[in-house]
Amino acid sequence: MFMASRIQTRAFSASARNLSKVTVLGAAGGIGQPLSLLLKLNPRVTELALYDIRGAPGVAADVSHVNTKSTVKGYAPSATGLQTALKDAEVVLIPAGVPRKPGMTRDDLFNTNASIVRDLAKACAESAPNANILVISNPVNSTVPIVAEVFKSKGVYNPKRLFGVTTLDVVRASRFVSEVKNTDPADENITVVGGHSGVTIVPLFSQSRHPELSSNADLIKRVQFGGDEVVKAKDGAGSATLSMAMAGARMAESLLRAAHGEKGVIEPTFVESPLYKDRGIDFFSSNVELGPNGVEKILPVGKVDAIEEKLLDACFVDLKKNIEKGRKFVAENP
Ligand code: NAD
Ligand code: LMR
Repeated sequence: MFMASRIQTRAFSASARNLSKVTVLGAAGGIGQPLSLLLKLNPRVTELALYDIRGAPGVAADVSHVNTKSTVKGYAPSATGLQTALKDAEVVLIPAGVPRKPGMTRDDLFNTNASIVRDLAKACAESAPNANILVISNPVNSTVPIVAEVFKSKGVYNPKRLFGVTTLDVVRASRFVSEVKNTDPADENITVVGGHSGVTIVPLFSQSRHPELSSNADLIKRVQFGGDEVVKAKDGAGSATLSMAMAGARMAESLLRAAHGEKGVIEPTFVESPLYKDRGIDFFSSNVELGPNGVEKILPVGKVDAIEEKLLDACFVDLKKNIEKGRKFVAENP
């Protein structure tokens, strides 16, 4: 009897500790739908809140029939819809906003997406100030600084809890290398640093199992412009959604693993970073060890070769402008 109640108490406290509400803002979109499905399949997610300006209740009803334990609720814009979707969230993923069409850069999305992300960030700052915020909406190099500025203006900014999702860049790098080398992508762990657009994406092949690839200009370009391949192939119907959903679900899973006590969980992500502050770069994507408080440790970039040094110089030029643009937007459009 005593044993049974002790086991029960222990089981209860373990599960209470691991209750994880995850919220998706933009859940009915191209990324939002498959991302929500993958999150429903994740046993670490106990409650899934799906919000969109249109269609989220339908997506939620659909996903809710998947026979895993978590509960799923859909929220439409209403007096309290967004607020309730965000309340008590541990992780908030934001894929809300418009995607590219052929011929556009990610920066061309700024005019539309900056205000969407700013407004959602305000709601997060008010209703989920302690959540881990994972920004997927492009241009990530600017939308992450936008969220930071909004949180600062509300007095709740915690740089350890704000992440730009750059996971797709390492997913692609690993896959593209495996195609060149005829290997299993699972064995190709490629470090990618910088930002998330064109030349700000810097793969560090010199640190991989194939250091000679650092002089493979075509491969470097493919990693930097992998998103364009999908935009072109979709021919006006949007950008990467399925591979992005997988990458976003991986990042959310890593954060939850770390939050639930697993040590040594490392993901690349675009965060406020000391690594290149001396070059005027305040946000930078690099490998980051995750922990219960979000960012546990920003890992150093490590040794790079002369070619990669040049790639980093080019990255800094664009990245600095992108970060400034995001900050200026919030200053001028609070
Ligand atoms: P989509 O148009 O298919 O979906 C976007 C969704 O956002 C829509 O359902 C729309 O109703 C919703 N939305 C718009 N404004 C909103 C608001 N204020 N609140 C809540 N929801 C809102 O686009 P998509 O293909 O899912 O892409 C979304 C974003 O993700 C784009 O900006 C795209 O560039 C970006 N993206 C980023 C990465 C990355 O690696 N970080 C990869 C792929 C795409
Ligand atoms: C990607 O890398 O696929 C995304 O950033 C979407 C895009 O516009 O390319």
